[in-house]
Amino acid sequence: MCGIVCYLGSERKTAYLIDKLKRLEYRGYDSAGYSSLIKNAFYTQKVVGKLENLEKLIKNDEKSTCLISHTRWATHGECNKINAHPHLSKNNFWAVVHNGIIENYINIKKELKDEPQSTTDTAVVAEFLEERNPKSLEEFVDVFKEIKGSYALVALSKNEENTMYFAKNKSPMFIGVSGEDFMIASDPICFSGFAKEYIIVEDGEFGIIKNKKILILNSEKIQIKKQIQKLEIEFENSSKAGYPHFMLKEIMEEAGALENQVNTFLSRKILKPFSKSFIDEFDRIVFVGCGTAYHAGLMGTHYVKEILQKNADAYISSEFLCEKDTFLDKKALYIFISQSGETADTLLALEKVKKLKIPTIALTNVMYSTISRRADYVLPTCAGKEIAVASTKAYICQLSAIYMFCKNAKYEYFDEKNACYFEINNISKKINNFDREKIKNLANLISTKQECVFIGKALDYVTSLECSLKLKEVSYINSCAYPSGELKHGYLAMITKETPLFAFATNEKFNLKTISSAEEALARGAMVFVITSSKEFANSNQNVIYIDEQNSLLSPLLASSVMQYLAYNVSINKNLNPDMPRNLAKSVTVE
Ligand code: M6R
Repeated sequence: MCGIVCYLGSERKTAYLIDKLKRLEYRGYDSAGYSSLIKNAFYTQKVVGKLENLEKLIKNDEKSTCLISHTRWATHGECNKINAHPHLSKNNFWAVVHNGIIENYINIKKELKDEPQSTTDTAVVAEFLEERNPKSLEEFVDVFKEIKGSYALVALSKNEENTMYFAKNKSPMFIGVSGEDFMIASDPICFSGFAKEYIIVEDGEFGIIKNKKILILNSEKIQIKKQIQKLEIEFENSSKAGYPHFMLKEIMEEAGALENQVNTFLSRKILKPFSKSFIDEFDRIVFVGCGTAYHAGLMGTHYVKEILQKNADAYISSEFLCEKDTFLDKKALYIFISQSGETADTLLALEKVKKLKIPTIALTNVMYSTISRRADYVLPTCAGKEIAVASTKAYICQLSAIYMFCKNAKYEYFDEKNACYFEINNISKKINNFDREKIKNLANLISTKQECVFIGKALDYVTSLECSLKLKEVSYINSCAYPSGELKHGYLAMITKETPLFAFATNEKFNLKTISSAEEALARGAMVFVITSSKEFANSNQNVIYIDEQNSLLSPLLASSVMQYLAYNVSINKNLNPDMPRNLAKSVTVE
């Protein structure tokens, strides 16, 4: 999703800012640009594609005291140079960068005297600012009374040198403060090496940086006193550490991530607040998330039912938003899962529950993220930075965290006495340990196919959903996931001898049933591959992938990891970039 980095202070090389913008590359983008304000004129460059293309346009000695820059992930308007940010108003009076969506841009456009050249929602705001031409923060707030939607927006007026306006609603925005130098960014990770302190801009806040000071007002134009936060984030060098891609690096980091998860939970007694008596207060546990995070929640429902013998449900965030408030369960504990902690749908779902004063937990990988800040409790996943768009190690950590959460609530041991720490450590020893050649050979075969199907029962069905998503994302091979028992109720009609079918059978209770469903597909010519923890099937056929874990609640971690490796290799075989699948972004900050 879009990222912004803006700077106001003493003179700096433009390249310095672009370097900070690179820290937001993980969010995904398809074009980039910057504008600097020099002697009442904007100097602007935009490119389609990578930041390296933008860097090529910067002259070695190019410096500025006031600069806005942006990476764009197209939402309204195709990806091209005109639609890239910053957007300048017709007479070049205002320049704007924006992350979010201006929902009423069509209505605003109708009011404008001049139609912007770009078809984007943001270009409308630049033009609107030119026509309204606010000359103070108060007037800037008035302009925003007419703007609806989500925005982290920074604007420069050519007539106000060394002045920066900003507005925030729903999209993340932070201000790094280093003496009399200021940086506005979508992620405080940009401030590492620049500032030791920063400010979190909240929804409905509008501000100006002028005369080396920040002034922030709410929509009622009342001044807000902001707390200064200590920057405790170190920019981890996101190098690929010798791996060709982040996705592969991150799969190979799963063992370490799990160890880290266990050590953090143990050393900081993270699970102590979630004791049996705390959980007993609730009738039900509800998980909410998108994509892979939703799948972690679905798996979580099985953990809760199995370990805590409690009712549980999982919702896709955007679907949860469709539910009437009256149907929200006030006796439920809601857990919002998000790797980034910034996903707009999940954030809105959290706000919906918060409004009713129902307790909320955020299960996130980024402690300073909006979802972490807004929830009542935070349960950290300790995967470390995940750069590849396809979530791998974060998913594995989400499952382990929910598992340990349930086990702690059940047995009330927050130290080593609780077997779950040992169990997860044990998984960490097995997770990156599989026959890579076998999976690569399988990937060669799958790469030639048009479609794939994944089946399983209960937890294995959830694994099917997640593996199907992963394969689609990085290989563009169409695939679907079916509960094994459903196959004969429709999907069998699609099976031909060209169809690879992956059957997950990692739960003794259901293995035979899933194998029977796979047999039905086999009888109709499908190529069947079985991923199983059953020793009985282990060496029976070369199309069997053995998962060495008898605890059926934890075998999905191993099965998912192997299939992530398969998806990665299919992507490579097809000459694709698994780190940045087409059309997708890492952090989806718009609804
Ligand atoms: O940051 P989040 O966990 O909230 O992201 C949710 C989804 O967008 C994410 O899991 C997406 O489905 C991944 N690309 C899956 O690999």
